[in-house]
Amino acid sequence: MPEFENLRSIRSFVRRNGRITPAQQRALDTLWARYVVEPHENLDLNQLFGRTATKHLEIGFGKGEALLAMALAHPENDYLGIEVHLSGVGHLLNEAAKLGLNNVHVICIDAVEVLEKYFSDNSLDCVYIFFPDPWHKARHHKRRLIQENFLALLARRVKIHGYVRLATDWEDYAQQMLQLFENTDKFQNCVSPNSFAPRCEERPLTKFERRGQRLGHGVWDLCYQRVIG
Ligand SMILES: C[S@@+](CC[C@H](N)C(=O)[O-])C[C@H]1O[C@@H](n2cnc3c(N)ncnc32)[C@H](O)[C@@H]1O
Repeated sequence: MPEFENLRSIRSFVRRNGRITPAQQRALDTLWARYVVEPHENLDLNQLFGRTATKHLEIGFGKGEALLAMALAHPENDYLGIEVHLSGVGHLLNEAAKLGLNNVHVICIDAVEVLEKYFSDNSLDCVYIFFPDPWHKARHHKRRLIQENFLALLARRVKIHGYVRLATDWEDYAQQMLQLFENTDKFQNCVSPNSFAPRCEERPLTKFERRGQRLGHGVWDLCYQRVIG
C-alpha cells in the first residue's frame, strides 16, 4: 500500500526503552506469553480473545492507566493496547495480572504497521488515542501520529458506527486533529461540526493531567464516529 510508505519511514516515536525496573522486567519475563500478541496477517480478534465481544484499541497506552481502567470497568468488552516502550508494557502487564484481567492483550510494534499489516477492515469498535506525542517543534510535526493518511487507515479498520476518541494537551495539535477529522467524510463529529468533545469519561484522571489542571493547562478531547463516506 504505497500511500502509507511515508508514514512508515517517519515514525511517531523514538525507540528507547527507558529504565526498566526489576518488577517490570519480571513482568516482561513471566507475563509476556499471557498478554502479548505476536500479530499475523488478518488477525482474528474474536479468536484472540476467545469470544465475540466489542473490540477496543488503545494506541500508545504509555503505562496503561487508561487501558487498565477501561478493561476493569468493562469486563464485557475486549481491549487491545499498542505500545512500543517496554517499560510501560512491563508496568501494564504487572497491573493487569494483579487485577486478574482476561480481557486485555498487548502488541509491542509500531501502531501504524500493526493497523496497516495485521488488522482487517471493519474490525474495531472503538479506538482511543490519548495524549499522542505532540512533537511540538515545527520541523518534527511530520512525526505526529495523526495525519491524513493515518486517518484514512483508521477509517478502514474502524467499523461503520464505531468511534475514535482522542485527547491532547497541546492546542495546535488539537486544532490539527480537529481539521483533519472535519475534512474527511469518513468520520462525523459526535458533538457538532468543528467542536471539541467533553472530557472522555473512560479516561482516568492521571497525575500528569491533574498537574496540568492545577497549572491551568488545557486538555482537548475529540470524539468522532465512523460514518459511511
Ligand atoms: C505522550 S505518551 C502518552 C501515553 C498515554 N497515552 C498517556 O496518556 O499517559 C505517547 C505514547 O505513545 C507511544 N507511541 C507513539 N507512537 C507510537 C506508535 N506508532 N505505536 C505505538 N506506540 C506509540 C509512545 O511510546 C508513548 O508511550
